[in-house]
Formats: sequence, C-alpha cells, structure tokens
Amino acid sequence: MTNTPLPAPTGQEAVADRLLRSTAARSYDPDLDIDWSAPLVPGKGFILEQRCSLYGTSLWDELSPEQRLELGKHEGASVASTGIWLELVLMRILAKMAYHGDPVSAHVQYALTELGEECRHTIMFGRMIEQFGTPMYGPPPRIWALGNWMPALASGPSMWAAILLGEEIPDRFQRELVADDSIQPLMRMVNRIHILEEARHISFARAELPRSVAKTSPAQMAYHRAVTARFAFIVASNLINPQVYRSVGLDPRTARAAALANPHYRQTLRFGGQKIVAFLADNGLIGAPGGHWWRRSFLID
Ligand SMILES: [Fe+2]
Ligand SMILES: [Fe+2]
Repeated sequence: MTNTPLPAPTGQEAVADRLLRSTAARSYDPDLDIDWSAPLVPGKGFILEQRCSLYGTSLWDELSPEQRLELGKHEGASVASTGIWLELVLMRILAKMAYHGDPVSAHVQYALTELGEECRHTIMFGRMIEQFGTPMYGPPPRIWALGNWMPALASGPSMWAAILLGEEIPDRFQRELVADDSIQPLMRMVNRIHILEEARHISFARAELPRSVAKTSPAQMAYHRAVTARFAFIVASNLINPQVYRSVGLDPRTARAAALANPHYRQTLRFGGQKIVAFLADNGLIGAPGGHWWRRSFLID
C-alpha cells in the first residue's frame, strides 16, 4: 500500500462538489461583514492613481490632488456599476442553467450557489456606490438592451468566455486595491469579499470552458471566437463611462479620447486582460475572426 495522495478529481460533479464545500466553509454576508455606518476616510483613494484612465496625460497634470481623488472615486464607481451589469446578466444565465438542469446534481446546486453570491454582490456594489454619492453609471442604454438578450442567446464556449472576461478583468484590479492601505477601507473590504467568492466562480467557469470546447466543432468555434472578441471589447470599453469626467469639469469626449490614446491606460487594460487572454488563447478562443475587436479592446498587444 502507498501513501501517495490521489490527484484531485476533475469531473464536472467533483469540481462542483468541491466548490460547494468551499462555499459552506468560507463565504460572507456583506450586510453583516461590512460596517456600512463608517464614513469614508478623507484623503484616502478609491482606485490606485496609476490605474486612473487619465494618469500621465496633460489633462491629469492639470488636476489638483482633490480632483484626482474625485475622479478616482467616479472611475471606481463606474467599474463597480459595470460589474453590477455583468452580474445581473450572469444571474440570468445561471438561472437558465438551473432551469434546464438537474437540481439534484452538484453542478446545478453550485450554479444556484453562485447565483446567490452574485445577488449579494450586486446589492453590495449598489450600496457602495450609494455611499460614494456618485451616479450609478453603468454601460450605455444600447449595452443594457443587449444584456437583456444575452441570457437567452448565450451558450457554449463563448458563454463561459464571456463569464470569465466579466469576472477576471475586474479581479486583477481588485487584488491590487486590497493590498494597498492608501485605499478607502470600504473599497478594500468590498473587494476582499468579492475576490474570495469570485475565485470559486472563476474555478467553476475555467473547468467548464474546456469541456464545452471539446463538444464544439471547428466551424462553430469560429463563431464562438467572434462572439468572445466582441464581448471582450464590450467589457473593456465600458469599464469607464465617459460621463465620469464631468465630475472634475472635463468634457467627456475630449477626456475619453485622451484616455484611449494614453499609453498608461492601455497598459492598465492589458494588465486586466493578461490572465484571461492567455487562458482563452490556450483554449482556441482567440484568433480569426475577431482580431479587430481584440485590438480595439486594448486587452492584447
Ligand atoms: Fe460577483
Ligand atoms: Fe462571479
């Protein structure tokens, strides 16, 4: 007899079962685990300065330290509001999975567990934006309208790719924030909760995507590459709503153009895309058709 441990099971039910046990052992209730009565701390930031879309531009040089903090607050709120949009769409996809699946399976039970966490995240981000006192920016109306159709249309590898793009890009920025004590405690706690629970969601989708690819024909994969590229562009281009620039007296069109031409901001987007782009490429989801949208997203070089 040998004491060599067996490798962790990787089947669909085994992964879901492991994630259900992890959820039971460690999860948060943002209502109780966040001190919502604590005021914002004067002088502390909302995002890292170097992640601000205008950092390093001549417009940035003209902003006072107070205006830079204010813009960071609005950009942080904008990213959170796009996160809310993504979570609202994802909850409907998860509900569809459960509706058409077997509620006795660990797989469907985990989809419902994830849905419950996304529901709490959406409320948590909404309350955080309320505390910031900023608008609920979100993507523009045509993207909200598109999001209304996505749960019905989403399936196969591009559905898992879209879920991962929505989860992994913000996750990169959130991990930087929680490690920095110059950032508002509320922002750090909200993101600490989000990172922990999203790590399970990311594991779930990363296990499902290759299974879905294996069941997809080469011709269908071309369609999924095109949808994935378009969605990557939608996520990247809607993180910062141009209306945020009004908070510091800048014209949204001018400032948006400056941000998109800003090498620092392009590097920030590449940083956001780094891990998920590599995973999607490994699974055959990056390539023609779709190169145009990937280049415009600035998520890849
Ligand atoms: Fe979430
Ligand atoms: Fe998630």
